[in-house]
This record gives sequence, structure tokens and C-alpha cells, in this order.
Amino acid sequence: MLGDIPLFPARASSVASQVDALYFFLVAVAGFFATVISLAVIFFALKYRRRKVDEVGARIHGSTALEIAWSVIPLGIVLVIFVWSSAVYLAISRPPRGARDVYVVGKQWMWKIQHPEGRREINELHVPVGRPIRLTMGSEDVIHSFYIPAFRVKADVVPGRLTTLWFEATRPGRYRLFCAEYCGAQHSGMIGWVEAMEPAAFLAWLAGGAEGSLASSGEKLFQDLACNSCHRPDSQGRGPALDGLFGKPVVLQSGQTIVADEAYIRESIVNPQAKLVAGYAPIMPTFQGLVSEEGLLQLVAYIKSLEATPRVTTPAAGPAAGAPPATPAGGPKK
Ligand code: CUA
Repeated sequence: MLGDIPLFPARASSVASQVDALYFFLVAVAGFFATVISLAVIFFALKYRRRKVDEVGARIHGSTALEIAWSVIPLGIVLVIFVWSSAVYLAISRPPRGARDVYVVGKQWMWKIQHPEGRREINELHVPVGRPIRLTMGSEDVIHSFYIPAFRVKADVVPGRLTTLWFEATRPGRYRLFCAEYCGAQHSGMIGWVEAMEPAAFLAWLAGGAEGSLASSGEKLFQDLACNSCHRPDSQGRGPALDGLFGKPVVLQSGQTIVADEAYIRESIVNPQAKLVAGYAPIMPTFQGLVSEEGLLQLVAYIKSLEATPRVTTPAAGPAAGAPPATPAGGPKK
């Protein structure tokens, strides 16, 4: 098997063989043309070499058939590459529903990881095999890149925003984790391990050393920062109620409708006026610099968790149109 060649990392995720198949196809296409072209260069150089001093080459006036051939054949090949790689790209970039969330913060020079149940780790990521994992990643300082070669996944971790990456480990084992973006003096030391475990072993690991769930840390932070004085669940506060917000469409002051995802929630904490909810005054102060990147992820996890526990809210009591829908299963109103 090609995966066993020492130069090549193990194939340990659901997308690894798709990525490899595409990679080998590209290498084969490039290798084929490199060989054909070099042989042709040598062959023509020998065949049409100048034999007499006064020899003059024949005049050639083009060939429509030839020109069509060298246009259409490469077009066909690149279209195959385009369609194939788009399919692989879409598979890699869209996490399946029900993926397990894990929160990652990159900082000079370590990876800090938080599991929703509360376990935290540094430069180690424990995951169960056979279950899609969705990483939500932020950076405390500069651009890093989260890279697991055995899973064939990599994504930049950029300050000021959240990026996501998903994978499903298929084989238990210990796999290398790298930072793949030069991020300063100790960049090469920003490495670690991913431990893919059998589900039962993973649950046992998860149960050890948990310090309260991520959402409960977020809830505490939410109270410490006094967010709850304005964002009240009864929609009577000066800010919109956050219960049931996650994943739902939100109407903005600008008339635009967006879906409340992790990136939107993070942005609304550090830059509240960027996407103001319709019907609310721009009174929320920025929390930029007051909350660490890890704290932001805890707040995001807390607001996400409010989705799971819908409370009874007084319908339509909120300040007009833009209040987030109180109906739990409201379809997208676009
Ligand atoms: Cu972080 Cu390189």
C-alpha cells in the first residue's frame, strides 16, 4: 500500500483516500506530460538537426486540426481536475450534521484545546474514531495553521475571526499535529499529537479531569462580564435575547438577514456594531481585549448551548421586528 511508504503519512481519516487519489492523479498527469514532452524534445532535436551548413527549414503555415487538438485535450483534462477537486473540496469544507465540536486556540507557540464537556489540553487532541469532529479555531496573536497530515486536513487559524475544520478519524492511533504557517521564532516547536481513540476509551478519557463544561465556563463569564444585565432571556433587556439564537436567521439594521453562527457571535462580542440587530440601539461596548480568545470560545459555546434548552419566552414582547425568533423550529424566512 502507498500509505505504508515511510515518506507518506498514514491514511487515518475519511477523506484521506480521496485526497490521495486526486494527488496521485495530478502527479500521474504531470509525470505523463513531462515524460512525453522531454522525449519529444530529444526526438525532434535528433531528427531535425541541421545536417548541412546551408540547410533551411521548411515553411509551415499552421494546422487547424493540431491547434484544436492541443486546445481541446488539455481543456478536457483540466475540467476533469476541476470537477474532481471541487467535489473533494466540498467534502472537506462542509462538516456533516451532528459533528462533535472541539474548540482550538492557537497562540505563540502552542495549541490550546477545549472540549465541550470541559476537558482541556495543550498540544494534544483526543478524538473518538468513527465520529465527525468539527474544530472551531481562533488565534490569540498571529496567523497559525492547524495541520494533521494523517487526516489530510489543514486550515489557517487567523486572529480576529473563527475558522472551522472537520475530519473523521478512521483508525485509532497517534498522529502528528503541526503548525503549518510560519508564526515566529518557535514556530517549529508548535507541534503536538492527535490521539484517535476507540469511542469507549475516549469517553473514559473525557470523564477524567473535566472542570465543568465549556458552556458553564461561558455562562460564568457571561455573568462576570454582566452580559446578562442586557441580554435577558425574557426579551425585556436592552440587548436581544440569546436563547435559541444559534443557527437561526437574524434580521440586521441594514435589512440584511444573516445566520447566527460562531463567527457572527464572536464578531458581535468584539465588534458589536458590525452587524447590529434590527430594532436595537448601538449601545453595546466592545469586549475586544477584555476577553481572551479562549473566553470568546466559551461564550460562543454557552450561547450555542442555549439552543438546546429553549425556555418559555413571552412572544412578541420584545422591541419590534428584529428580535430573534422565539419559535424554536422556525424555518428560514428569506
Ligand atoms: Cu503557529 Cu507556526
